[in-house]
Amino acid sequence: MVADGRRVLSNRIASQVALHARYGGVVPEVASRAHVEAVIPMIEGALSDAGIGMGEVDAIAVTKGPGLVGCLLVGVEAAKSLAAAHRKPIVAVQHIAGHLYSPWIGRETDAWGRRTDSEVEFEPYIAFAVSGGHTSIVAVNAPDALETLGETLDDAVGEAYDKVAKLLGFGYPGGPLIDRAAEGGNPRAWDFPRPLGGTVGYDFSYSGLKTSVARAVAQGGGPGAFASDPARLADICASFQAAAVDVLLDRARRAMRSRGAHRLAVTGGVACNSAVRARFRAEFPAVAIPEPEFCTDNAAMIGGLGGVLLDSGHATGLRINATPALALDAGGRGWQ
Ligand code: KG4
Ligand code: ZN
Repeated sequence: MVADGRRVLSNRIASQVALHARYGGVVPEVASRAHVEAVIPMIEGALSDAGIGMGEVDAIAVTKGPGLVGCLLVGVEAAKSLAAAHRKPIVAVQHIAGHLYSPWIGRETDAWGRRTDSEVEFEPYIAFAVSGGHTSIVAVNAPDALETLGETLDDAVGEAYDKVAKLLGFGYPGGPLIDRAAEGGNPRAWDFPRPLGGTVGYDFSYSGLKTSVARAVAQGGGPGAFASDPARLADICASFQAAAVDVLLDRARRAMRSRGAHRLAVTGGVACNSAVRARFRAEFPAVAIPEPEFCTDNAAMIGGLGGVLLDSGHATGLRINATPALALDAGGRGWQ
């Protein structure tokens, strides 16, 4: 539940991490079923945390894509039923757009700490959405004009973290575990590749980096050998992390230069990473990174952006569908 596009009244998360940890990753059928079980208790919980009833709700925001079709359908159908039963407008939100909006959540200022955006003129910025499912760099040219500059050609950066963690024998999701294990390690111990560095575009490729780490682990005696040598484990984690973050910084630098942008935002689960936060902040004074709670998937970013879209006349009506491959700027609808 979000008021005024930013003030968080409640932000519940029904985590499926424990469920998927057993399989080492997300199993779509298992995920859909868990959504069905969670959706109604979550709506009731969110209302009760916020201390309001449906009568006080202005509109319902829902993610219609991209994502796993079974999971999206559960959310979209639940939102439509609620909207029809309570005669509320419904606002579709594109999931990645929700991430890009997340630096505004929970703040009284704009994403960069300026007082309010009605007092400051909109300034184009470059934004990243980096998570287990997506790695996108986007030029936000105007509030409703998004331009995807680059995406991953294979694995997402969070997926690379999770796969490297798995081959080192860590649990799922591995990103936070690699982050912790890298502490104190030497980021130059291994010279892992920085894929697509020096190319003209802004795309990413993380599967080759993961393969290089796999080779280094095998040559180094397998996961057991690293587990029994904490300094070497820290070194390999730090070296992987340095390569993964270097690629993001390279794209940020080039995009900002070529677009003449001064502001930057980094969002998505990987924006929780300590190296991402420290290195982006060290290099770019005007970088907005959400609190970790709003980096990983959350309802507040969808509700907040839904509120902004509602105010600008973008309610969508009941004829929306789950759209698994929904592009960010599909049909010129920008954030939807
Ligand atoms: O945004 P998110 O919650 O879900 C989607 O994938 O959409 O992001 C989850 C991803 C996982 O791959 C997880 O390993 C990664 O974010 N992640 C991290 C950290 N915290 C979460 N990766 C690196 N370092 C972290 N501290
Ligand atoms: Zn996400």
